Amino acid sequence: MTSNPLPVYFAPVQGSTDLPYRVIHHNAVGGVDAYYTPFLRWEPGGLRNKDRHDIDPDANRGIPTVVQLIANRRDEFARLLDAVEEARWRRIDLNAGCAFPMQVHAGRGCALLQRPEALRELFDEMRRRPEVEFSVKMRLGWESADEVLTLLPLINDSPVSLVTMHPRIGKRQMKDKPDLDAFGRFLTHCQKPVVYNGDLTSVGDIHRIANLFPSIAGVMIGRGLLANPLLGLAYRDGTAFDEAARMRTLRLMASQLRAAVRQHLANEGQVQQRMQAFWTYQKGLIPKQEYKQLMRE
Ligand SMILES: Cc1cc2nc3c(=O)[nH]c(=O)nc-3n(C[C@H](O)[C@H](O)[C@H](O)COP(=O)(O)O)c2cc1C
Repeated sequence: MTSNPLPVYFAPVQGSTDLPYRVIHHNAVGGVDAYYTPFLRWEPGGLRNKDRHDIDPDANRGIPTVVQLIANRRDEFARLLDAVEEARWRRIDLNAGCAFPMQVHAGRGCALLQRPEALRELFDEMRRRPEVEFSVKMRLGWESADEVLTLLPLINDSPVSLVTMHPRIGKRQMKDKPDLDAFGRFLTHCQKPVVYNGDLTSVGDIHRIANLFPSIAGVMIGRGLLANPLLGLAYRDGTAFDEAARMRTLRLMASQLRAAVRQHLANEGQVQQRMQAFWTYQKGLIPKQEYKQLMRE
């Protein structure tokens, strides 16, 4: 068993960490302290039905969940918060790291890092809602790793109780390695608890980051957990990597996921697409033929 293991958070991944996946992972595997939903956005008519379903409080019962929102302005954020609070959610994360061009061009996600006034207004809106425990997930910047350093006074003064840092810059998407030097600088000056996120794929990776940055408040893992759903559990319990157990777990989760998504997706084509999103994280980890077969199932 790892002594005093850090909290492990499941990162939000659009198309993968949806409600059925989170429920199945929590019930069949576990080892994760909280699941972040993929971001919810405001549409002209309100929340999309798909998003409304994703945060249905009854369907999420018993699963430690943080609802993530993406917004570019205070009024948009307030509308989203009203809708989400109405569904009794009290742990809410602001997305200030998404680098999808459509969101960035609209001033959301990572673009907020270059819009300190907008970010300040979103923090002001949080202050109006003391019943909510807020967090923020961000990158180092859109164009440069210095952007977040400029924002530090604003972040330190904000009402968020946790900051998750994915130390890359938005413009480079997922290219380049996480910038650990820049992460270290941010961690030194940030007065909020900081969670590390980025490229953790093994128990060894988690220990390396924990040793390098002993003051972090946790780790957030996306693709590493999608590739190996046992990763959080193995870190917490100190169990050795077991490829057969990994594949057994993936197959069990896949059969449960297929059954769950069949209930609400319109046709088999959509079910297959959803299953492809599940298996895509096995690319390069299993033999090519086996991967091809799984993508066809
Ligand atoms: C397909 C895809 C969708 C993502 N969707 C979201 C999202 O909705 N909200 C968010 O904050 N981050 C999102 N991310 C970023 C991840 O949460 C995470 O920060 C990133 O993958 C780095 O962590 P990892 O190396 O552990 O996967 C997404 C990443 C991918 C690959």
